Amino acid sequence: MEKIIIKTPEQIEGIRKSCRLAAQTLDYAEQLVEAGVTTEFIDDKIEEFILSHNAIPAPKGYHGFPKSSCISPNNVICHGIPSKDTVLKEGDIVNIDITTILGGFYGDTSRMFTVGNVSPLADKLIDTTLHCLDLGIEQVVPGNRLGNIGFVINRYAKAKGFSVVYEFCGHGVGIEFHEEPQVDHASRRNTGPKMKQGMIFTIEPMINQGRPKADVDKKDGWTARTTDNKLSAQFEHSILVTNTGYEVLTDIHNDYPIT
Ligand code: MF3
Ligand code: CO
Ligand code: CO
Repeated sequence: MEKIIIKTPEQIEGIRKSCRLAAQTLDYAEQLVEAGVTTEFIDDKIEEFILSHNAIPAPKGYHGFPKSSCISPNNVICHGIPSKDTVLKEGDIVNIDITTILGGFYGDTSRMFTVGNVSPLADKLIDTTLHCLDLGIEQVVPGNRLGNIGFVINRYAKAKGFSVVYEFCGHGVGIEFHEEPQVDHASRRNTGPKMKQGMIFTIEPMINQGRPKADVDKKDGWTARTTDNKLSAQFEHSILVTNTGYEVLTDIHNDYPIT
């Protein structure tokens, strides 16, 4: 059964605006990342920024999530809950994941940030994860199968000595927070549905230094950590399938060609 929404030009324009705001929110958040600040402080400022742009932070209240963004340091894979008890320190790596609702449309993006100087291994993990996202994006073209995204991501991460988280995936986005299709980051070549013009989905690889397995905190029900407490990194973009390739809707720095 086909439930992947093909967006209309009007919907695409609305989602493009929301995606732009989500990316601008990450630019804003970047300046807040420094040793000594709590992730709750960063989240408060993010919430204020999004609300002041006439938008709503999608995470707040989503299946009971208590905060406006996900902030995931070091061994946290994803869904880190901003907290007054989580104080960033020199050498930390941290993912901030922003989802905005603007005019009813969703934009979803995340990036890694570093606190001061980080270890060469942390640097390598971050560079590898960003390259995994880029390789995945290059697979976006009408007619290609979704599984090829996870195929190239997994092949590259493994070649670098890292592992791909398989318990959390990318997803259709725009009209709802999480739509079909599911976008796996480790998958078999030429499997899955074919990409079509007008689809919008995220690619958001989570790459682990050690074992790929995630362990969700039993107390808070959200925080997903590596089981070996080694590092994890993630980058996320929301991507439109165009007639000839892709448009990275959450890229405001023109890092990607529009194909
Ligand atoms: N932004 C996350 C994603 O990329 C989802 C977060 S769900 C929340 O899909 F409830 F934790 F916000
Ligand atoms: Co997402
Ligand atoms: Co996200």
